[in-house]
Amino acid sequence: MQKIISDYTRVILWSTVLLIIIEPGYLAFDALFRQSRQVEVFKEERIVRGSYFFASSQCWTCHGFNGEGGIGLPLNKTEEIRTREAKEPFIEKTIARGRYSTQMPKWLKEEGGPLDIEEIRAIREFILDGKHWGKYYDIHPVVIENGKVIEGRLGVKAWKDTKDYLKDHALLPPCEEKDLVCKGKIVFSGPCAACHNTTAETKVGPGLAGIFKKANLPNNKPVNDANMTEWLQKGSASYKAEGQPFMPPYETQVRGDDLKNLIEYLKTLN
Ligand code: HEC
Ligand code: HEC
Repeated sequence: MQKIISDYTRVILWSTVLLIIIEPGYLAFDALFRQSRQVEVFKEERIVRGSYFFASSQCWTCHGFNGEGGIGLPLNKTEEIRTREAKEPFIEKTIARGRYSTQMPKWLKEEGGPLDIEEIRAIREFILDGKHWGKYYDIHPVVIENGKVIEGRLGVKAWKDTKDYLKDHALLPPCEEKDLVCKGKIVFSGPCAACHNTTAETKVGPGLAGIFKKANLPNNKPVNDANMTEWLQKGSASYKAEGQPFMPPYETQVRGDDLKNLIEYLKTLN
């Protein structure tokens, strides 16, 4: 009898001990796991919103649709940027306050910019993630008819091409279907206008007035459609010395009809 009770007591005792150990362990595990999933969801949401603010703030005029850089530094060297950010966080600070004596503007509302701190943190997450370059998730889609936004109607929320942001939101003058020059001008207003005036005045690159009346391109090839196409695709980065202003390559950014229309537009510059 003595033995049975003591066995029974031992079972109770052990069960209690196990419960005391396992229960909080389980609770902690559950809480941690669920919390980390919530953090994941929150992060994913930031990336999505960040892609939108990168497009709508037109960061791409200086950093490229794919974050490949231009006037601004490249933002798509993801590993490098992550390593630097881990050592000394700089992304939020740079976007919020700009970079003194460079063309990087201040974006934070408190600094006179258009974005609040949450929007800037979302862009930071989008840059650090580095998986959606060239695309933005349209969180404020509109419906456009005859070149005008239809008030009160919501368009399709989806991933769209960053290069189409202005078009998607009726922020460009509408072009007639056959008006290739008009379409080319729109392409130009994306990445090119940041570095080139359409007058003779130099910006970062030379003013482009009369470009098709010039004898040669900077690579000494005569100005014609084929050589202009090559120039725009390759740019001059490959042969320019470090630190010199250069013409970025547009092989992936400006293609097909966009490229043809762009060249038609360049021909009209006088
Ligand atoms: C008018 C051109 C311009 C615009 C528009 C612009 N930037 Fe910049 N940005 C720059 C330049 C130039 C630099 C490099 C400054 C320097 O030399 O240190 C830079 C630097 C940065 C850096 C730091 C890069 C690094 O490697 O140190 C980040 C991040 C950045 N920009 C993000 C943005 C974001 C996000 C936007 C839009 C909200 C934006 N930029 C809009 C010109 C611009
Ligand atoms: C980051 C600045 C930058 C951007 C963006 C840029 N370019 Fe350039 N571009 C230059 C520079 C600098 C030169 C001068 C050539 C050189 O030294 O590399 C140049 C040269 C040119 C030339 C030759 C001009 C001449 O007088 O010989 C043409 C044409 C041209 N760019 C067109 C464009 C077009 C079209 C776009 C948009 C798709 C564009 N560029 C985007 C910097 C830029």
